Amino acid sequence: MRCLSVPPEDPIPAAAPVGHRHPPPPSLVSPGVAHDPYPAFRVLRESFPLVRDELLGAWLVSRYVDVRDALGREELVALPPGRTLAHMEGATHRAHRALIEPALRGRAVAALAAGASRTAHVLARRIAARQESDLVAEFCRWLPTAAVVAALGLSREDTARVQRWCRGGLTHLGGGHHELDAWLRPHLARRRARPGDDLLSVLCAAEVGGRPLSDGTVAGLVGSLLGGGGEATALALASLLANLLDDPGQLALVRERPELVPAAWAESLRRDPPVPVVLRRAVRPVVVAGAALPAGAVVACLVGAAGRDPARFADPDRYDVLRADRGGLAAGMGRHACPGAELAGRTAGYGLHALLDALPGLRWAPGFRPAPQGLLSRGPRALLVRPR
Ligand code: HEM
Repeated sequence: MRCLSVPPEDPIPAAAPVGHRHPPPPSLVSPGVAHDPYPAFRVLRESFPLVRDELLGAWLVSRYVDVRDALGREELVALPPGRTLAHMEGATHRAHRALIEPALRGRAVAALAAGASRTAHVLARRIAARQESDLVAEFCRWLPTAAVVAALGLSREDTARVQRWCRGGLTHLGGGHHELDAWLRPHLARRRARPGDDLLSVLCAAEVGGRPLSDGTVAGLVGSLLGGGGEATALALASLLANLLDDPGQLALVRERPELVPAAWAESLRRDPPVPVVLRRAVRPVVVAGAALPAGAVVACLVGAAGRDPARFADPDRYDVLRADRGGLAAGMGRHACPGAELAGRTAGYGLHALLDALPGLRWAPGFRPAPQGLLSRGPRALLVRPR
């Protein structure tokens, strides 16, 4: 599990928390919050819509409208250090997004997804032969990593290595892995010499401002793409399966009406986002949740709290695949909104279809209860099931 910590920042002047009441506001670093942040999120939303978490060193924003607004604010940028897309701004950010977005949208994604579908069926058939299986270890971690590895044009054998790195801190919003650069170097040299039509070749051949991207920049972008699949999508897929297995009525509905799979995915992202907290830092004074914060303020946008805001979603703790409102903020908002959201959704959809086809009796192993963990990256770390 990754810890939630904020690097030391410029001192922030003390300001009266909005909604100063008793009991005191919960801190995100209190014991137990990473295990279940939702009670704390509720208190924050109801009584402290903008409050300084002294232990974390950040301002917490929890209501749907305020989180949506904060995610789109130009004055709030990703926390340093980092070299991923999430850390870029202005013209550089737009230029790098223009390189990556076409490869993660539309027809390019449909081609990739066909490979993901094949992988999903192979994995699901393997699980069908077992008496008991852990869907996280045997399915969720493999499938999304394999999809992004294929998008980049890397070999299937690299999937296991990337997955290990994701468990060791490679994330799409800033985390890195010390082995990534050295491992990528020969791949980059080959693509620079003889470009193919994969995403890694596109990045190697690209010029921004008339200059090619350095190896370090390409490695930063590749890290965010690999982390997006191996970390965020894997956790989100695990949460989707947990939500369905926890409610056999909902699972039966999706089995009867497979056209509900995209709704089941969107609803799970709303209720149990894999990135429940997005951290930002003010580069200029900024208004957040109706209050002025100074330059240097660190703001924690609580996407997980926003997704369960009753002012936006009726009966918000309930997982309901028939919910009409799919407006969750799991993929972010504005200029940094996730460019991999479509790929993630398609990959998860193929995964769920494959499991439903191959495992007609899928249910929890006797006595098993999923235990999601984490705040910056959240999801169940194991899903023990009886496939037959
Ligand atoms: C369910 C899966 C996923 C979720 C919930 C998710 C969520 C997010 C969130 C919350 C952000 C930050 C938005 C912000 O800062 O405002 C983001 C950014 C990003 N995501 Fe994802 N993501 C997922 C999958 C992926 C995948 C599969 C990829 C790549 C193939 C990816 C690549 C990226 C990149 C490159 C950024 C940075 C974009 C930018 O700063 O312009 N993500 N994602």
